[in-house]
Parts: sequence; C-alpha cells; structure tokens
Amino acid sequence: MPETPHHIITLDGPAGVGKSTLAKRLADALGFAYLDTGAMFRMTALLLGPAVLEYSVKNREKALQGLVFSLEGHGDASRILCNQIPADERIRSEAIASLAASLGALEDVRAFLKQSQQRIGQKHCLVAEGRDMGTVVFPTADCKFFLDAAPRERARRRVVQLREMGKAADFDGILKQIMERDHKDRTRPIAPLKAADDAVIIDTTNLDLDGVFDILLRQSQKCLSTQALREQP
Ligand code: DC
Repeated sequence: MPETPHHIITLDGPAGVGKSTLAKRLADALGFAYLDTGAMFRMTALLLGPAVLEYSVKNREKALQGLVFSLEGHGDASRILCNQIPADERIRSEAIASLAASLGALEDVRAFLKQSQQRIGQKHCLVAEGRDMGTVVFPTADCKFFLDAAPRERARRRVVQLREMGKAADFDGILKQIMERDHKDRTRPIAPLKAADDAVIIDTTNLDLDGVFDILLRQSQKCLSTQALREQP
C-alpha cells in the first residue's frame, strides 16, 4: 500500500514575532502536529549545559547521540520529548535561550537536530516552527511562511505577555535581549535566519494576531488543496 504523504508547513522568523502562538493555532485548525524546533535547541542546551561549548567535536557527537527526540499529540496539545521526557518550563529561561542560540551556530548540533526534525517529519503532518525550517530542514514543504516585525514591537508584545502572566518586565532589557538574539541568529554562517526564496513573507508590525492567523490559514489551505490536486492519480 502506498504511504500517506506527510504535509509540512513551515513558519520561520525571529524571536518574539508570535510564531509559537500562531503555529499552534494553525496546527490545531489543520489537524496537524506542531513542531517547536526552538524547544529542541533549548532542551539540548538544558540537558548538555554550557560546558558543551567547550567539548571536543568527538565528545559533543557522543553527547548528542544520547538525545532521542520524539513528538506526541496534535495542535495545541503537541509536545516534544527528549529521551521520553517532555520539555518543561526550565527551557524558557533567558540563559537557556542564549545557550540555545550559541548551540545553533555549531554545525554538528544543527546537523544532528536537522536529522531529528526530518525524522519527525516522516511520521507526522507538521506545522514546523523555527529559523531554518523552510530554507534547510524542509526545503520541499507544501507551504512556507516567514514572519517578521520591528524589534521594538516584538519587545512591546513580550512585555505585555509577561505582565499578563504576572511577571516583571523591563522594556529596555527585553529589547536588548531580542536584538542580541537577532544578531546571533541572522549572522551565523550555517543556516542563518532568513526567508526561503519561495516563502510568503508577512510583516506583522501593524497586524494583530487574528489578522496574521487568517492569512496563514487561507494561504495554507490554498497550498494544501493545490498539492492534493497534484497528488490525484
Ligand atoms: O524559537 P526559540 O526562541 O525557542 O529558539 C531559541 C534559539 O534556538 C534561537 O535563538 C536559535 C535557536 N534555534 C535555531 O538555531 N534554529 C531553529 N530552527 C530554532 C531555534
């Protein structure tokens, strides 16, 4: 019996642009699983610790081979596991985000996680969110999006989000972290953050979440129905 093809929609963009919220919503609406590849970099950072940056390539390879990623559930309820253990709140700290961005510049870490992500893509229909989903990991995805927004607007949204959670938030500090992470993500030589040539680019600076979601859903449905026509015998 022929294998059912797994559809992939990619959503790339810088930190704080709203990718996670939108990717989860889109996955929910399409009945796909949501793949948070930032969480995979963050779990790698948490489990291996800052010392991993000093390891020899051989020792890092050995440490990476001990990490087995898998994905459970659909839509909003999707969760990424490493060695059968789900990600928890510890991966959301700024220290882990910064270490994840440093790991993202290492060729062997990227190659290992790319392979893990592609393996997951062979088992699930996905909305895959990250930095290089459309350019490197899933170059033949059914539909690709690149979301962007001015750094000040991303910092403003993050402040609102933190205050809603009852947490303290300092605009200038958050803006600085966002700009530092942008610099690391956009200037690394391997798989830098950039839009794929065939991605739909959406500047969300002056759009609300519902407005962006409508564009993503309509465009995804269009791509998936075109794909279905092509797959008809
Ligand atoms: O999306 P996020 O903020 O959870 O990602 C944390 C860091 O992980 C990000 O600054 C860079 C790295 N990352 C990456 O290099 N490639 C991805 N596909 C996802 C994340």
